[in-house]
Amino acid sequence: MISKKLLKALGDQLNAEFYSAYLYLAMSAEMDNAGFKGFANWLYVQAQEERAHAAHMFQYIVDRGAVPSFGPIEGIKGDFSTPVKVFDRVLKHEQNVTKSLNSIATIAQAENDHATYQFVMWYVNEQVEEEDNADEYLTRLKLSEGNISAIYNLDTILAARVFVDPFAGAAQA
Ligand SMILES: [Fe+2]
Ligand SMILES: [Fe+2]
Repeated sequence: MISKKLLKALGDQLNAEFYSAYLYLAMSAEMDNAGFKGFANWLYVQAQEERAHAAHMFQYIVDRGAVPSFGPIEGIKGDFSTPVKVFDRVLKHEQNVTKSLNSIATIAQAENDHATYQFVMWYVNEQVEEEDNADEYLTRLKLSEGNISAIYNLDTILAARVFVDPFAGAAQA
């Protein structure tokens, strides 16, 4: 049995994963139309990853015998007209995601729900890479400001990203 408090926190996180996917799709569309196909690709793959998180979280909640609440997914607002603006938001967004995942881990620990603690710790650890990537790209973009060939150089690097299902091979219920 999962507690009501933990179920609420996991359900909110499930919703947040869909919001993340939505946010990255919105950014991807803007970058694509602004001529930055590589950034658009990286963001699109990021959205695919967020959908995989949502599916994984959904399955965990159901496997624990619970049903998440399906509240509305917040709409996307923001200025995603330049790569710097996009990655500034990506970094802030991922820092917020880290905070919510940490608070779920804290609740799970307080309730001695070790299964949920272990489940959520996969995400907590994943956030280290998420923040590191966003921070690195933002730093490079800030250093490249006004230098379009430097920005395109990073765009070319990010064009190579392909989606890898983080849970491929994991046991399915
Ligand atoms: Fe995620
Ligand atoms: Fe993420």
